This record gives sequence, structure tokens and C-alpha cells, in this order.
Amino acid sequence: MKVLLAGGAGFLGSHISNNLIENNHHVTVLDDLSTGSLTNIEHLKSNPNFTFIEHDVREPYDIEVDTILNFACPASPVAYQQDPVRTIETNFLGMINLLHLAKETGAMVIQASTSEVYGDPKESPQQEEYWGNVNPIGIRSCYDEGKRAAETLCFDYKRQYGLDTRVLRIFNTYGPNMSQNDGRVVSNFIVQALKNEPITVYGKGDQSRSFCYVSDLVDGIYKLSTLAKPIATPLNLGNPNEFTVLELAKSVIEVTGSKSEILYKALPQDDPKQRKPDISKAIELLEWQPEIELLEGIRKTVDYFKSVV
Ligand SMILES: NC(=O)c1ccc[n+]([C@@H]2O[C@H](COP(=O)([O-])OP(=O)(O)OC[C@H]3O[C@@H](n4cnc5c(N)ncnc54)[C@H](O)[C@@H]3O)[C@@H](O)[C@H]2O)c1
Repeated sequence: MKVLLAGGAGFLGSHISNNLIENNHHVTVLDDLSTGSLTNIEHLKSNPNFTFIEHDVREPYDIEVDTILNFACPASPVAYQQDPVRTIETNFLGMINLLHLAKETGAMVIQASTSEVYGDPKESPQQEEYWGNVNPIGIRSCYDEGKRAAETLCFDYKRQYGLDTRVLRIFNTYGPNMSQNDGRVVSNFIVQALKNEPITVYGKGDQSRSFCYVSDLVDGIYKLSTLAKPIATPLNLGNPNEFTVLELAKSVIEVTGSKSEILYKALPQDDPKQRKPDISKAIELLEWQPEIELLEGIRKTVDYFKSVV
């Protein structure tokens, strides 16, 4: 494949870059480095199959490719709420620009959507057919509604112009290369635990999340990228094993052997109470299932953060 990977210097993008290069594909990363880092892709820069271009996807970009992966968007609530107008612009204008490029080149497009499109779900586990429960005017909307609009664009370009667009709904994923201060729960807890600082749990910590280790997710993304036939439905990708945030905090303390205490703080607005993907479609269409258990994934991620904190 000749791949354009938008957001390739970020947490997920850097792992996807590694995976594509290992599988002998050509990769051009477009990234404005707003939340990503050149350090994540430094080791790839001398590879002849790899090109990095600093570019904001809100502006059009022309290149001959056959596959476009759109991972350009800040993903942590702290980062995406810092400049919400920029976030929704990135989701909407970035998607339009990449779809327009796909229309010109005939490329297939994979959009990194999110479990946030289900908002604070009234159904669990969340199936792809569920339309979600999203606050359209809250502080998370720039991200949630931006991603929903991007999904709409993918399906409209598919219906109207016959494009091969594939929408991936990613559930909480963690692992090496997460930024240590971007406020996501797994990196937050690990960094706090390694520094023996209080672990900040929002609310009572009884809200649930399903945590997927990054290598499992990248495996699923690769299967979707190389799937011969187009798919007609969005696809959930994540680990269906559900844990409360408090259980996660305790697991992190166990793995790190930290002296950190748990500090309870007020729940942020619109924080979803439950997240659990139904992955039966991914199992059927991609023959994919996550394999890494939470404790094993935490151990690998702790090893990474020990080298950077
Ligand atoms: N990590 C998760 O758990 C998760 C869950 C659901 C969805 N996603 C989606 O996956 C994608 C990647 O997430 P991540 O966790 O790697 O986040 P990240 O913040 O580490 O990566 C995002 C990358 O996009 C780049 N970017 C942001 N705005 C841009 C713009 N306007 N133009 C060009 N580049 C831009 C950033 O510099 C960064 O390199 C995002 O679209 C996110 O919504 C991630």
C-alpha cells in the first residue's frame, strides 16, 4: 500500500507507522505536531519507505496514495478541550480534505472514530447500531460531535461518490508513546504512581471503561486496512473486558508497587458512566480479537513510562 497517515506522530499513529513499515508499505505521515511528537517516529526517518510532512489537515494536501488513514485529532479530553474550535475544525475540515483527496485518487479511507460517538450510553455493551446519547453543546461536544460529523461525511462520500470509506470506532486504548501529561486515565495513573503522587480518581471511580492494549488495536487496524472488500458498517474495535476506574487505579498501584494513595475529585461534565464494546462484527469481519490482558498491558506501559518519567 501507499499510505497517507494523518496524525502519524501521535500515540496510535506512531504504532501504526511502525506496523506498516514492518509490513513493507510506503508511509507518508501528515502531522502538525500539536499533540504528537517527532520523538515517536524518529527511528523511522531514515527508512526510505517513510516520509514525514508537517502539515495541518485543516488545509488540503495533494499526494498520490491508495490508502488514507485519518488519525489526526487530539484524543485526550485535556488536549481537545484546550482549543475546542480547532478540534471540531480538525474533525470536520480535516475529514473533508482527506475525502476530497480520496475522490481525486480513488484511495480507500479509514477514519479513526471513537466510542465517544455513543456519548453516555444507555445501552451496554455498545453495538454499532446504537445511535448514542451525546450532549451536542457540552464541553466534550467538539470531539464527540466532530467525530459524528466525520462519520456522516464518510458515509455520504460512500453513498454519493462510491468511495471505499471504513469507519473504526476505537475504545480506550493505551500503551507506550502516550504523552505523559495529556490527562488520559491510564497514563495519568501510571505517571502518578511512578512519582508516588496521589492517584486522582474522578467521582467514586465506579464508572467503567474497557481498555485495549495498543498492539491489539494496531493488529485490528492492519486487518481492516488490508481487507479486500469494503464494509458497509462502522466497526467497534476495543477490548470488551470491563473494569471500573477504581479497579484500574488499584491494578496500577499493584504493578508499580507505588505508595500512592487514591484522591477522589469531582466528576467532570458529561463523563460517560459505562463503556464496553460489542466486538462481534470485528470478530466476524476481521477475524480479530484482543489478546493482551489488562495487567500484562499495564506492565508493558509501566516499563515504557519508567524510561521517560
Ligand atoms: N487512543 C485512544 O484511546 C483513542 C480512542 C478513540 C479514538 N481515537 C482516535 O485515534 C486518533 C489518534 O489518537 P491518539 O490517541 O493517537 O491521539 P494523539 O493526540 O496522540 O494523536 C493525534 C495526532 O494528530 C495530530 N493532529 C492533531 N490535530 C491535527 C491537525 N489539525 N492536523 C494534523 N495533525 C493533527 C497530533 O499532532 C497527533 O500527532 C484520534 O483521531 C483519536 O480521536 C483514539
